[in-house]
Amino acid sequence: MTPLKEECLRLPGLIDCHVHFREPGGEQKETMATGARSARAGGVLTVCDMPNTSPPTVTVTALEDKVRRAAQVKDCDIRFFFGATKREHLDELKRLWTDQKLHSLKARCAGLKVYMDHSTGNQGMEESLIPEAFKLCAELSIPLVAHCEDPEINRRATEELKQKDITAHSLMRPPESEERAVARVIELASQYGTHTHATHISSRDAMTLIRTAKANGVPITCDVTPHHLFLTIDDYAKLGTLAKMNPPLRSIRSAAHQSALWAAITDGTVDCIASDHAPHTLAEKQTADILKAPSGVPGVETMLPLLLTVAAGKWPGPKLQATNYKLQVEDIVRLCFTNPNRIFSLRAPSGDRVEVKMSEEWVIHGNALHSKCGWTPYEGWKVVGKITPL
Ligand code: DOR
Ligand code: ZN
Repeated sequence: MTPLKEECLRLPGLIDCHVHFREPGGEQKETMATGARSARAGGVLTVCDMPNTSPPTVTVTALEDKVRRAAQVKDCDIRFFFGATKREHLDELKRLWTDQKLHSLKARCAGLKVYMDHSTGNQGMEESLIPEAFKLCAELSIPLVAHCEDPEINRRATEELKQKDITAHSLMRPPESEERAVARVIELASQYGTHTHATHISSRDAMTLIRTAKANGVPITCDVTPHHLFLTIDDYAKLGTLAKMNPPLRSIRSAAHQSALWAAITDGTVDCIASDHAPHTLAEKQTADILKAPSGVPGVETMLPLLLTVAAGKWPGPKLQATNYKLQVEDIVRLCFTNPNRIFSLRAPSGDRVEVKMSEEWVIHGNALHSKCGWTPYEGWKVVGKITPL
């Protein structure tokens, strides 16, 4: 990072190690081209795209197709996670990693994504296969990214549910669900020695488990998302289904989840911040059956401005939520460039590729952002930092 003058910074092109660019199969929500344009406008020049597309990225052929499409996209370097729900998908991953002829394709693959429970795209892995995935990834040194929610706890919480308004979504996927899945992932990472990355950690006690596991030498890393750092269940009132995602927003009354995530950034437990950019069209989100609205929020373009605003000593959201969370620009570079670059062996260039004018403030409007979905959960928020890719 190069400070030019006080108000103008130069940064490496940031890495967002968790996005859903929806191509192929979900092009009404986003394409690789529109997702990449949105990333670039937000100072993100490398992304790792998730496998829950249609078809899902669970075969070498599906990965080849995505890599071919991404080669046409110039705004951003798109890498891919492989997915697996069945044994044959793990066989395909093994072939990708071991067949010399697939060497250059393998270089575009950042690792394996394992969904411990179903989310958008129904990619939940068969329970009996989960240890095999950890074993294979350990043997071949493949990073394993885990979506940590427990299907049993989610199922029970959903059955017991009385409420029907949108806040029910957070009750259907409670913090204990994430905590139990994180405990399981830690156990498997420790048993097999798999390099495991727990993505979008959203709750206090799950984060405590990761902190302890790291202290005990378990090979685990983790990321948090901007939406869990900046939004809570109180935002359902204004956003309705636009605030629905998995894992869901958490309460700041029953437990201090949000402040626990910020504390874990400060003490180094959090390795990365990643957007989980998950665009859906407004029409899909604003369905009458609110609990059936698809889960996910866009975020690749707003991640850096939101974080820069905190680095400037301000809070971008509504005043009533204002806090004194701390972050330096150096932390942003570590969390959104250096660490994901190392964890996923991405070899993204470290030279300055983005300029930020810290003296400029602007207001986020969904229709001015570049994602095809055209909306943002941060509508009207005031942020710091005009971003220009160099
Ligand atoms: O909220 C989410 N949206 N969570 C996921 O796990 C998937 C994602 C999507 O693809 O829409
Ligand atoms: Zn995701």
